[in-house]
Amino acid sequence: MRANVFDYQLAAERFLPAFAYGYLEGGAEQSVTMRRNRRAFEETLFAPRVGVDVSVLDTTTRVADRPLAWPAIVGPTGLNGLFRHRAEESLARQAHAAGLPFALSTASTSLIESVREASNGDLWLQLYVQRDRRIAEDMMRRARACDFSTLLLTVDTAVSGQRDHYRRTGFTLPIRWTPRMIWDVASHPRWCGAVGLHGIPKLVNLARSAGLSGDLAEQAAAMSREMDMSLSWGDLAWVRRHWPGRIFVKGVQRVADAQLAVAHGADGIVLSNHGGRQLDGVPSPLEMLQETVAALPSHVDVIVDGGIRRGSDIVKAVALGARAVLLGRAPLYGLAAEGETGCADVLALLRQELHTCLRLLGCPRVAALDPTYLAAVPHLPT
Ligand code: FNR
Repeated sequence: MRANVFDYQLAAERFLPAFAYGYLEGGAEQSVTMRRNRRAFEETLFAPRVGVDVSVLDTTTRVADRPLAWPAIVGPTGLNGLFRHRAEESLARQAHAAGLPFALSTASTSLIESVREASNGDLWLQLYVQRDRRIAEDMMRRARACDFSTLLLTVDTAVSGQRDHYRRTGFTLPIRWTPRMIWDVASHPRWCGAVGLHGIPKLVNLARSAGLSGDLAEQAAAMSREMDMSLSWGDLAWVRRHWPGRIFVKGVQRVADAQLAVAHGADGIVLSNHGGRQLDGVPSPLEMLQETVAALPSHVDVIVDGGIRRGSDIVKAVALGARAVLLGRAPLYGLAAEGETGCADVLALLRQELHTCLRLLGCPRVAALDPTYLAAVPHLPT
């Protein structure tokens, strides 16, 4: 096992062609927001208690009325087939082994049905809504049939953020094999060996729900650009008609919107700026967490994401009122670096760091965390 999540990130960078690592890691524009996501954690400081019996820990919590072994969820990320063959099956299996739910992205490269076959754990579906609403309806139907428990409706992606690195590396969907791309792939023989032709991303879930056949990669890629930009609060009623389980709105970035989500029937929200990949120049979700939690009824679950790379980051988020965190890049670093074992190792590292942090903080129960365990809440100078 490597020393920490950052070491897996370095290994992932070495393993992947530049275009694939750029897709994994890159933020939007100047990455102001992406850096701020990390800074918010780094500048939130602990106020440890001593003289507390920390011999027995309880890290369990409940989200969407289901038990979690510790307060994290392996979050939804698209195009994971770029990193490893059958990546989403690996993520689902390892999330379950770690006692966590796994959220499958609409832009996944494995079918809902095969992810369910790979894991009998708690599976969530992340939904992007295309202009042709029947696609989302079909995806929800398939996920329900596979006993997925919870829906994450992502609302921060009317268009993709401005990601300069796509231009730099030549990454497009569908992939265009320019000389630069061919060179990039050819100079990463280990990736070629491990992923090979499977590494050409195919948005198979979108394609199946749209009833596409033929050149799936091409058609589904075209469709993925057809986001329904008219999606608005009133549409939550439409989602609710198709999804009887829990619904979280993912990508909320202001208190008033969190209240609107709940008023329109959401069971919870994910405070998120999409890991700094969408609108650059917004604050970290951590900075608005306390205020948001205070403005919502106590039965509403608030999840937070963006920049979680340490077990102690999870402790900080929960102390500020989050029920749990979503992990975005961290498990992907492990997966890209070393396949399924790497993903398992990253989750094990985070869990072990969480245990160490709780003991050193003098708080043996995750459920007892509150802001009194923190010395300073970030108000970062811009
Ligand atoms: C994402 N994210 C994302 N979110 C979503 O709702 N649907 C998606 O398909 C994707 N795809 C995606 C791909 C990749 C490569 C990354 C890194 C992220 C956003 C993700 O769910 C989460 O909000 C952020 O990744 C959290 O930030 P960190 O942990 O990556 O810093």
